[in-house]
Amino acid sequence: MRIGGMQTVSEHIHDAKPRQRVQFSTQMEMRIINLVLALLVAGRAPAVTTQGTSADLGARTYATHCASCHGENGEGVHGTYPPLAAHAADLVSKTTGREYLIRLMLSGREGEITVKGERFVGVMPGQAALGDGEIAAVLNYAVTAWDNYQLLPAPFEPFQGWEIAAARIPQMRNVVTFTAEQVTEGKTTYEHNCQDCHGSSLDNGEFGGPPLRGARFLQRWDSGSVASLYTYTKTKMPPDRPGGLSDKVYADLVAFILRSNGYPSGEKELPTDPKAQEPMSLKRN
Ligand code: HEC
Ligand code: HEC
Repeated sequence: MRIGGMQTVSEHIHDAKPRQRVQFSTQMEMRIINLVLALLVAGRAPAVTTQGTSADLGARTYATHCASCHGENGEGVHGTYPPLAAHAADLVSKTTGREYLIRLMLSGREGEITVKGERFVGVMPGQAALGDGEIAAVLNYAVTAWDNYQLLPAPFEPFQGWEIAAARIPQMRNVVTFTAEQVTEGKTTYEHNCQDCHGSSLDNGEFGGPPLRGARFLQRWDSGSVASLYTYTKTKMPPDRPGGLSDKVYADLVAFILRSNGYPSGEKELPTDPKAQEPMSLKRN
């Protein structure tokens, strides 16, 4: 099972025992509670509306982006697409259910899944292209529609656009950016200032320079952010005049080193401000 990078969350959801629900002694009490829950859910809808979303937006988003697989009434398709009726609300009541559903919308998931006793193996495409408000609204719709609201934990806080926005940030963390031009510039600077010690292929240095590419190099750096590598290089290299080059040139050198280690170049420059580099993890998937 895989959902984005959050395998544990996904497994937790399906392996964990459902949180104990209140036992009702009579049918009557059950009906009253359901009515109160329905009112609660209905009463909270305006709070969602102020976020630029609405019950209507949820229904429309569902019809356009989910119904083709999960069915107009959340009934799913046997053997292919799991039902959401009598299921989506169950998910949200699990301890990490809220995070799980948001992550599911942003990253999708694939692999084996058991829903209401039936096994499914499929791919749920990520819906990150939808807006934050649309995702919040469609989740609110999916967990309340088709009598799902009866299964909601009380109190249930509707999903809000800002929660979705906040969850997107960790996805951006992973992306280290630099351009092909930076790599080219960096290579030229490298040849003049670094190659004597670190070698023409970055791993055949002669004067004690350790390899700047390959397993050992990555093991040292890929658990941190690009800021560490940049700051190290700028404050220590070249050894006879550390910091002797401009910030831009150090950024170019780092771009060249990263490219030599298989990181792809892209459209955005590697910034020279370590604060802006800090969120850029060098971790590889
Ligand atoms: C192309 C088909 C497709 C579309 C479109 C789609 N889904 Fe899914 N969905 C799936 C499949 C397949 C699974 C099961 C994935 C697996 O086997 O891991 C799934 C699983 C789910 C689950 C259950 C996850 C669990 O752990 O039980 C929910 C909730 C869900 N989808 C909601 C939605 C919502 C909301 C939308 C629209 C925004 C949507 N899906 C759009 C195919 C789809
Ligand atoms: C005079 C030789 C010499 C020159 C020139 C030199 N380095 Fe180094 N470099 C070293 C040595 C020696 C170390 C190891 C230092 C240590 O471990 O304390 C090192 C370490 C590094 C590291 C850390 C590698 C690791 O995984 O530990 C980086 C990155 C680096 N150099 C980049 C550069 C860049 C970029 C240049 C050119 C601007 C450069 N170096 C020029 C000798 C040199």
